[in-house]
Amino acid sequence: MLHKAESAANPCRPIADGDLVIVYEGFDSMKAVRVSANGNYNNKYGSFAHKEWIGKPFGSRAVSRKGSGWVLLLAPTPELWTAVLRHRTQILYAADIAMVVAFLELRPGAVVLESGTGSGSLTTSLARAVAPHGKVWTFEFHEQRAQLAAEEFKANGLGELVTVAQRDIEASGFPEELHGQADALFLDLPKPYMVVPSAARCVRPDGMFCSFSPCIEQVQRTCQELNAHGFRDMRTMEVLLRQLEVSRQALATDLESSMAPPQSKKQARRQEAAGNAGGGGGGNGPKRQKAADGSAVAVVAKPVPFGRGHTGYLTFARRVVEFS
Ligand SMILES: C[S@@+](CC[C@H](N)C(=O)[O-])C[C@H]1O[C@@H](n2cnc3c(N)ncnc32)[C@H](O)[C@@H]1O
Repeated sequence: MLHKAESAANPCRPIADGDLVIVYEGFDSMKAVRVSANGNYNNKYGSFAHKEWIGKPFGSRAVSRKGSGWVLLLAPTPELWTAVLRHRTQILYAADIAMVVAFLELRPGAVVLESGTGSGSLTTSLARAVAPHGKVWTFEFHEQRAQLAAEEFKANGLGELVTVAQRDIEASGFPEELHGQADALFLDLPKPYMVVPSAARCVRPDGMFCSFSPCIEQVQRTCQELNAHGFRDMRTMEVLLRQLEVSRQALATDLESSMAPPQSKKQARRQEAAGNAGGGGGGNGPKRQKAADGSAVAVVAKPVPFGRGHTGYLTFARRVVEFS
């Protein structure tokens, strides 16, 4: 995925047979599709023949056979992959991932250790951050999850950057050959505090540690262990995302009459519709709302009501060495 996505950054890169394409129907409706010369993609707009996509650049808009709708054909990126991947576990989403990549201070060539791999959502972003010559070692104790993740990374072109191994990291720690090798280390485990002694052996001085935990008690125990094992500059943060939806809305110009209670059920329905204009999603953008009573129509931005709340706490720490 990464190598293909990189070459897809070139606007001339055409879609080829066998490519992974992210089919975009709307910001909340995307699917990962493997292009095959005989394949078809079907949705509510009708049928799309893959062979029509081959040779077109990533970023193309494809119209359905009967012309009743369209989809966008996007190059796979870690951000889009997180939006479309098959969930085998809970996953990290873009807002937390962005903080992890930034505060782990990842750069091309870096070596990162991760556990558990889960669905590989974070791993894919770690891989892009350390590419082209870095390495992600990711450990998962669930045999089938480890195997599926390894297969997916390979199919997505990440086979050389990411190595998956099956291992109980809480019980056994990271392998000895990785001691002193990590520029950064990330844990998404039920008992991250059990892994801190091993993390201290793996992360080089001035390297970064991060743990993702849904409960504050996990954070407290992890911080105690970090403090006891030479980590300093500890910071815990919770990332809360607030999205805004931009749409057209009917705004009453006559404040008095707009605040008066509705005189009939029909009028109540009209007032409610005026207040709920927009909606987004789908391939056709925000709906236009006509003012029922001649009031002004304006473009407004309001917070999306279904935003994700608490996902977890991110605890970062830096490994330091004392000298006297
Ligand atoms: C929440 S998932 C990780 C999701 C991942 N961060 C992502 O973004 O897709 C946690 C994973 O840790 C694995 N796990 C739990 N305990 C473990 C242990 N002791 N050693 C290794 N992996 C473990 C679980 O099997 C699960 O797949």
